[in-house]
Amino acid sequence: MKRSPFILLALVALCVFSAEYLFAQERSRTNIDDDWKFHFGNASDPSKDFNYRIANIMKKTGNAGRTCIAPDFVDSLWTTVQLPHDWAVALPFVQSPNEDVMAHGYKPVGGLFPESSIGWYRKKFMIQPSDSGQRFSVTFDGVYRDAVVWLNGHYLGNNTSGYIGKTYDITDIVNFNAPNVLVVRVDATQYEGWFYEGAGIYRHVWLNRHHSFHIVENGMFVTTVIGSGDAAVKVATVVENQLPTPVAGTVQTVIADREGRVVAQSSEAPCSFGMNERRTVTHTLTVLRPSLWSLDDPYRYRAESIVRANGKIIDRVGVRFGIRTITIDALNGVMVNGRPVKIQGVNCHQDHAGVGSALPDYLQGYRIRLLKDMGATAYRTSHNPPTPELLDACDSLGMLVLDETRLLNSGSEYIDQFARLIMRDRNHPSVFMWSIGNEEGYVHTTSAGKRIAITMLAKQRELDPTRTSTYAADVANVFQGVNEVIPVRGFNYRVNGIVPYHADHGDQPIIGTEMGSTVTTRGIYETDTIRCYVPDQDITFPWWANRAEDWWPLAAEHPWMMGGFVWTGFDYRGEPTPYQWPNINSHFGIMDMCGFPKNIYYYYQSWWSQDDVIHLSPHWNWKGAEGKHIDVWVNSNADSVELFLNAKSLGMKRMVRYSHLKWDVLYTPGALEAVGYRSGKRITARVETTGDPFVIRLTPSKVSLSNDGRDAVVINVSVIDREGRDVPDAQNEIVFSLRGAAKFIGVGNGDPSSHEPDQCVDGAWQRKLFNGRCQVIVQGGHGNEGVTIEAAAKGLNPATLMLRSHN
Ligand code: GAL
Repeated sequence: MKRSPFILLALVALCVFSAEYLFAQERSRTNIDDDWKFHFGNASDPSKDFNYRIANIMKKTGNAGRTCIAPDFVDSLWTTVQLPHDWAVALPFVQSPNEDVMAHGYKPVGGLFPESSIGWYRKKFMIQPSDSGQRFSVTFDGVYRDAVVWLNGHYLGNNTSGYIGKTYDITDIVNFNAPNVLVVRVDATQYEGWFYEGAGIYRHVWLNRHHSFHIVENGMFVTTVIGSGDAAVKVATVVENQLPTPVAGTVQTVIADREGRVVAQSSEAPCSFGMNERRTVTHTLTVLRPSLWSLDDPYRYRAESIVRANGKIIDRVGVRFGIRTITIDALNGVMVNGRPVKIQGVNCHQDHAGVGSALPDYLQGYRIRLLKDMGATAYRTSHNPPTPELLDACDSLGMLVLDETRLLNSGSEYIDQFARLIMRDRNHPSVFMWSIGNEEGYVHTTSAGKRIAITMLAKQRELDPTRTSTYAADVANVFQGVNEVIPVRGFNYRVNGIVPYHADHGDQPIIGTEMGSTVTTRGIYETDTIRCYVPDQDITFPWWANRAEDWWPLAAEHPWMMGGFVWTGFDYRGEPTPYQWPNINSHFGIMDMCGFPKNIYYYYQSWWSQDDVIHLSPHWNWKGAEGKHIDVWVNSNADSVELFLNAKSLGMKRMVRYSHLKWDVLYTPGALEAVGYRSGKRITARVETTGDPFVIRLTPSKVSLSNDGRDAVVINVSVIDREGRDVPDAQNEIVFSLRGAAKFIGVGNGDPSSHEPDQCVDGAWQRKLFNGRCQVIVQGGHGNEGVTIEAAAKGLNPATLMLRSHN
């Protein structure tokens, strides 16, 4: 029999490529956050935008014209930045009557500010000649927004989303003997939201290298079914052959426990792939006596899929996953592993004091830990896909996540964004539900809204049949539109509509997607319309919202209500409700921009956590107010509390569940003490009139920094009197300096009307205390000698802090 010459050719080709496997390295994923060059462009003047739009760069492949896209463009005068980078946070505040400028925190970014809304980034990197023959790509985890990307003068593509990232294949155009030049034009002219969004490459960037016969991006999907005494773990792995020839190999999946011990493994399933073929290989493995992922013990396993050819490993990808069940029903709300879990949740935007939306990974975990300490069980990523690191923090600390896409929109751009979100996040055990949108008032009660929701829900079920979705609706007892088809009815405010809605639609689970929303300013006890402050008590709220004590009892007392998400966990830039300029950030937070607790924190902690909580407010420094009436609040979960002023009892009161206690006290300096009894256990809180500030106190979130160049530490700053007591009303200006391989990356104090710079790039790093506190964030470098931080203030004794370095 005669063989076709084509078959022969294919066999030869297969052999040639197979030989290459013997030497192929496994995949690598290299972070390329360091040493980017940055320069502003201009949205209205092409000559200030490096000729972009007047140079006809689209006419030929690789033609970059006389623009900064050209690989040989000289960028030595540009600023060097480390990612994540948010250029908006370093801009000054500008007073503007424009409502979107206000909503974005009065930063000069957007259509009115063409000179500070375009950012150009350039990054050079090398690739070893020995890596030739592999495939390469770059992944941007998130760029705000509308990023156009080129490599070596070649156009790679465009991602309009400011939140969900994108990967570009660069295999055919990388250089092996010369630098590769990656150029990104970021256009933040058009807003996506109505809150501070930042601007720039504010998430990580990765250089990926892998073989042409490989596992695709987000190509593993792990689902679990728990039986009696074991769990069936199904791992679907999408493998692709991008060789110009068919290929044969095997795919195997291995599961390891938290300590790295292999607990299950499949056989090596033989499979052959045609040219450019992409297929799913599924293994179902049994894990005996599995440790379940839960909020108290967020246990994770690792599934690794391994691709082999000619007996050699040529690709492997690992994902962490949890074995757990989540059920949601209209009777019991949310159950994790069969046990009810109330959604004691918070909404959060993505920014933090000092750093804007460019958070070091450490800070993501820091914020989740603060929320967890308060007793929060859930986090809603309002109103956009979060960073991957936020989900990692929630997975590893035990926090449920309601993962939200940016828009309720089934057009190709937005359904694609939603699909990318699900594909990226569906292995995270913390994600318990998807949100298909928020307050889409133009459509949500219409037939169009309903049809959009049906399309999005179908997409969600296609890509993730293990979860369900909600939608955050700011309508009361309204069913028509999205609510007719949404599996879980979300309420934004409209608390009075919840019980009637449940009576009418008893088979639809209900969750509070935005609840409460008391506006408070930390450490302030009277309304101040000049400086734009509201009292730090659960009393003031916008017309659409409620106090904590109005919504939480409803959620707590009805098992059918899944619970809800407070608007918001932390203050965030923008939306300066109920004021405007000079107010530049919101007041909704349970904690301020720095994560310092306001008094309402202790309300939630009392009723959300298992801890013994007793908290007294206000402070007791009211010089000049002797003999005046002061409202003293006690937040506690004690059964009863007795208050003492200078050891004299002011009476004992019984605590009504889900409320607080209050005394009207005539001010006398000294000590105010609350003594509570919780199931017979005595718990106390005390505030004292302090002396003047004497010395600065630095309280770091940890005592050492990794020398990986990315680690960070949060340093909280207060001043104490001669007796070591924090002075709660101190307003001193603190100046920071630093020695060692580290840098300051942001300062803040939680004052919603402060226009001090968050980043003191050109001068001394400094910040005023706001009601006794401020914060500085330090990012480590690559040294091993440790870091010394000094804080000084006029008339006070300075403070020094040493941080160790470690690998
Ligand atoms: C909601 C909205 C949030 C935020 C909040 C302020 O209507 O969903 O994003 O704007 O109001 O109260």
